[in-house]
Amino acid sequence: MCGIMAYIGKKQAYPILLNGLKKLEYRGYDSSGVAIMNGSLSLLKKEGKVQALETFAETRKTEGNIGIGHTRWATHGIPSDINAHPHQSQSERLTIVHNGIIENHEPLKEMLIKHGYKFQSSTDTEVLVQLIEWYQKRYNLTTIVAFSRALQDVEGSFAVVLFDVYDPTKLFAARRQSPMVLGIGEKECMISSDAMPLAPYVDQVVYVEDDVIIETDDTGEYKFFDLNLTQIDQPISDIKNASIAYDMGEFESFMLKEVHEQTEAAHRLITSGIDINIGKNIDRIIITACGTSWHSGLIAEYMIEKFARINVEVEYASEFRYRDPVLSSRDLVLGISQSGETADTIAALQMAKNAGCKTMAIVNTANSTIARMVDQVSLLNAGPEIGVASTKAFTNQLVTFCLLIINLLEDSNIDLAYDLKSELQKLPSLISRTLKANENIVDIAAYISQYKSAIFLGRGTMYPVALEGALKLKEISYIHAEGYPAGEMKHGPIALVDNKMPIIGICNEDKHLSKTISNIQEMKARNGIIILLKSEGIHIPKELADFVIETPRCHEFIAPIIQNIPLQLLAYHTATTLELDVDKPRNLAKSVTVE
Ligand code: AGP
Repeated sequence: MCGIMAYIGKKQAYPILLNGLKKLEYRGYDSSGVAIMNGSLSLLKKEGKVQALETFAETRKTEGNIGIGHTRWATHGIPSDINAHPHQSQSERLTIVHNGIIENHEPLKEMLIKHGYKFQSSTDTEVLVQLIEWYQKRYNLTTIVAFSRALQDVEGSFAVVLFDVYDPTKLFAARRQSPMVLGIGEKECMISSDAMPLAPYVDQVVYVEDDVIIETDDTGEYKFFDLNLTQIDQPISDIKNASIAYDMGEFESFMLKEVHEQTEAAHRLITSGIDINIGKNIDRIIITACGTSWHSGLIAEYMIEKFARINVEVEYASEFRYRDPVLSSRDLVLGISQSGETADTIAALQMAKNAGCKTMAIVNTANSTIARMVDQVSLLNAGPEIGVASTKAFTNQLVTFCLLIINLLEDSNIDLAYDLKSELQKLPSLISRTLKANENIVDIAAYISQYKSAIFLGRGTMYPVALEGALKLKEISYIHAEGYPAGEMKHGPIALVDNKMPIIGICNEDKHLSKTISNIQEMKARNGIIILLKSEGIHIPKELADFVIETPRCHEFIAPIIQNIPLQLLAYHTATTLELDVDKPRNLAKSVTVE
């Protein structure tokens, strides 16, 4: 949440900042701003997407070779010009951009108010910049010393970049539990929330560690310090030739492009395989994740238990981290995350590490915090996912679990491993067929777009698929949607069903089929509007469904992947019918770096 981009060197900073902020918009897009230094400071901030800032800046001064920029996802204070970053200290000497949450901002703010500080915004960030100035003035400290003292006082998470007009050839930055990457160029440095915006400009980066302060200057020099200002080293990584695709190509949105990339992404992962090992002394696997990644964990629970017979539990990271679970060194805690930066998943994995568990992660982003903190990591290899709604990452999370199950079976049941492997080989072409068929989804989506709610139902692995279908619909179309195990409907939710309730029933050729059909018949008997998603070859009573979506027949091992794809398209076309921004739905951000 929130994206930071900063530049210091000899080039014009503004175009680099703007370009970077556009690429970081996936992290938050309710307002944005830049501060550029050129003799005097030009501070430009605007509510809305980065485009609004760009338009606003057209008639303002943007020249200068040092600058800091920010795109915001509001935590403290509504999205507005005033709450947009950068924020300044009372004397306007210091300017700051921040990603994260200063949890103890209230007592700090009270202390500063007692000392005569006045606040313009409702943000926790303004408290931090005022606190740095307070240290500077009260103890007559240099910027970096005041910065380090203030950082020692704050609780919570931060990635910050600080500029001091009295020290106008330098930028200072620091991070704790919020991502920050330093880009090292030819006589220039850049700082960003991820490496993607840096890739066009630099070949080398530093994935800055927690509680590290950076000092850079306009000759491209940089130094790292711990919070006591002892100089330290940080490992440098090469990102030369990193092909970081950032365009929509022929598609009208990143989401649609990413949905269509699933054939290739799955093929790539199946071909490359995975290189992780559950190990011998493991009694259970605890999967922890959030949102869509949690749904893939739930499918994995069904699949690993059925095929590999290992005990699996699935935990929302935000609950697991606080509920004091009973853990041991015989537990493998497996985090799933597209971004690798989700705050709750990081904290859940850290708790597991502290409890002596083995840790593993499945992530899409190499070098992300989660990728670096666990004992073993498996990369999704899905390519960058820009649309807020996770699509191809989910598919490759499930492909990873298929590969993991096959690996596990190779030691215990080679025949089954062989059969499942050959089913998995069919997946890319089945994804491609699923994407090509079903032109009626556009019409069904137009129909759904008239309603206020929808219910998704399934049994077995189709239950988490129902949860994922409902999440996709609500997050991009803003239509209230719930996923339920089909058998649970009569325990309460069936009371919601009438002729204004679309019911998306998901079935597959498995042992649950007849039960699911019966449950859907119960919905039809209450006048529900039935949209049946089924694989080819399943015969249903003629009068059961108002609409039918068909997918190619496939083995239950890969059915969750196939059945999910029409639901991605259903959500997509519903949102576009409603003329909504599918890539940047309201209130959301791609990378949830606050808890
Ligand atoms: C999915 O479409 C989401 N936008 C969201 O639920 C996401 O899956 C969740 O925030 C977890 O993100 P992660 O995979 O990057 O950890």
